[in-house]
Amino acid sequence: MSARHTCLVTILFILLASGTVFSQPFTVQSPDNSIQVSLGQLPDGTMIYSASHRNQVVMNWSKLGFRLDKGPNLESDLKPGTAALTETNEKWEQPWGEVRLISNHYRELRLPVSRRSDGKTAYVLVFRVFNDGVGFRYEFPDETGLGSFNIMDELTEFVFADATTSWWIPGLFEGRYLRDEYLYRQTPLQQIGVAHTPVTIETSSGRYLSIHEANLTDYACLLLEYTGFDALKAHLMPWADGIRVKAKTPFNTPWRTIQIGLSAGDLVESSLILNLNEPSVLKDHSWIKPGKYVGIWWGMHIGPWTFGTGPNHGATTARTKQYIDFAAANGFSGVLVEGWNTGWDDVWWDDKPKSFNFTQAHPDYDFNAVTAHAAKKGVTIIAHNETGADMLNYERQIDSAFALYQRAGIRAVKTGYVGPRANGEWPNGQFAVRHYQLVTEKAAAHQLMLDVHEPIKDTGLRRTWPNLMTREGARGQEYNAWSADGGNPPEHQTILPFTRLLSGPMDYTPGIFDLDYKNSPNRNRVNSTLANQLALYVTIYSPLTMAADLIENYQNQPAFQFIKDVPVNWSETHVLNGKVGDYYTVVRKSWEGQEWFLGSVTDEVARDFDFQLGFLPAGKRYVAERYADGPGADWETNPYPMTIDKFLVDGSTILNVRLAAGGGQAIRFRPATPADEKELKPYKYPDLTGIRVLSK
Ligand code: NOJ
Repeated sequence: MSARHTCLVTILFILLASGTVFSQPFTVQSPDNSIQVSLGQLPDGTMIYSASHRNQVVMNWSKLGFRLDKGPNLESDLKPGTAALTETNEKWEQPWGEVRLISNHYRELRLPVSRRSDGKTAYVLVFRVFNDGVGFRYEFPDETGLGSFNIMDELTEFVFADATTSWWIPGLFEGRYLRDEYLYRQTPLQQIGVAHTPVTIETSSGRYLSIHEANLTDYACLLLEYTGFDALKAHLMPWADGIRVKAKTPFNTPWRTIQIGLSAGDLVESSLILNLNEPSVLKDHSWIKPGKYVGIWWGMHIGPWTFGTGPNHGATTARTKQYIDFAAANGFSGVLVEGWNTGWDDVWWDDKPKSFNFTQAHPDYDFNAVTAHAAKKGVTIIAHNETGADMLNYERQIDSAFALYQRAGIRAVKTGYVGPRANGEWPNGQFAVRHYQLVTEKAAAHQLMLDVHEPIKDTGLRRTWPNLMTREGARGQEYNAWSADGGNPPEHQTILPFTRLLSGPMDYTPGIFDLDYKNSPNRNRVNSTLANQLALYVTIYSPLTMAADLIENYQNQPAFQFIKDVPVNWSETHVLNGKVGDYYTVVRKSWEGQEWFLGSVTDEVARDFDFQLGFLPAGKRYVAERYADGPGADWETNPYPMTIDKFLVDGSTILNVRLAAGGGQAIRFRPATPADEKELKPYKYPDLTGIRVLSK
């Protein structure tokens, strides 16, 4: 249901502390009036905006505008026209996701801005103010007369009123633009150089803000640069020729987003990024099926197998059939096979052209026999397409490759873009953004789901293209296999939910059970307890998610039952607690709505929490199947102890959740049957005298 109405725009005169008078600021409030955005001008005709939350300024006056290579001044000497204010209130249903029904309720201010010099439209500013934040974009209609134009700089600023701490990863270092596989830094705002988004900020009033973008399809990736005086400015990843964006009217920029919450968990529950994307363009979603997969993958990362040919080649016909049988027997819908095709024997990680062939299999991998076996067992092969960042080589072959996969019954493709540059271009510039969009559309045309590694960051496009299931876009589990810096510290998984995961699902590849493999390149290990590996299935959302270990490591492991039981599709998600970099607990309800799952993770500090299970429906008894860190568990010294138990609970139960250092806890809540009522005991709150570790 959508209600739109036009109101009269309030026209105010605002006096800044400095005494500068701005003429004609326009204001727009969120539907619940908690957030207010004002638009104004500097005396030189530069457009500016500010934002407040519950009567406290969170964004001071911040500049808007552009610098072009030639043509009109879009930076200053501008004049606001007549604004229109509308309200939209609707609900929409996701085909899959972490939440089934999404409320899209906002007030929108559209403000045409003209050039004082000739009176022509410069651009149209569109601000949408939701109860959980703000999105704004620039639109360039044909009336601008720009035709084809080049953006040399976007001048959008975010001037924070009271930022204290920021969490971010670098986007530029010594003149080189970077991908997004870094450990997060926690610093004062002033120490951000150039950062990838989302950048998450804590304010002195205890609020949390996250700056990101939505609906990035034909523009450069937004980075944020600290420019002094508590300002982050848009820094667009350029083309090799220095131009940031090559555009042609009519043209809209992606949305610039400011999510605002009273807690870090509020950011997680915000749907603002999805709401700022267009509805699905696909008529039929029946072929898009979230699922779990196993694969020929970890063996290459920890050492025993190779991607390329040789005596230890991982992707052989025999091994793939073994993985297919295991998947079918244990309820997995997919088998990822990496290193099945030719091209791996050449260098594939530099910035030179690559020899990957996406239809030609290695001699010891019988493509037809494998796909036929998978079809017989009701499992799909997930075809792996490592491009080595040679996007043009991939584009030349994509039609024939995707047609082959579709004919063979393959329903998903994992792509990869290892390499510092893409055909001479930076990895997330407009060239690359266009490539990722092309692949998404081609995949949809061939009914293929996508899992993108070394991706362009997520900006909510899964709403429009629901076959764009998941992606990497941060340091994943693989860093625990080979990284020379010792892998991902436990803290990493308590930062991701409040930073990277705000942008969308992540293929982290959890579920390593052999935590201390001895033969990896750097003698690495996984920096977590076993229970933590299970909790990640709930804390890190991904509609395609992997049981990443070698399948033999799941044999005779009672903890494997949780991976078999945990869904990948949720109708509700609620954050129970969270502190960026310390801990995070979330509960999710299965898509069908019968079961609930809890995941809790901590950093290097052992903790315990009490939660009332108020999310369970009143008057209904549930069985809690709990996978907890066992006695003496510690990520560094003793990662394996795990206690698995079952008991009866209901919505009034107060549950104590204890986490070891680097630990976690995973719980499945399923409706109790009469037999459960007879066999199982109600939960008894433990006597914590002498063992309480730390409660927050
Ligand atoms: C990096 C990806 O993240 C990883 O999953 C993959 O195995 C390698 N590239 C090889 O393509």
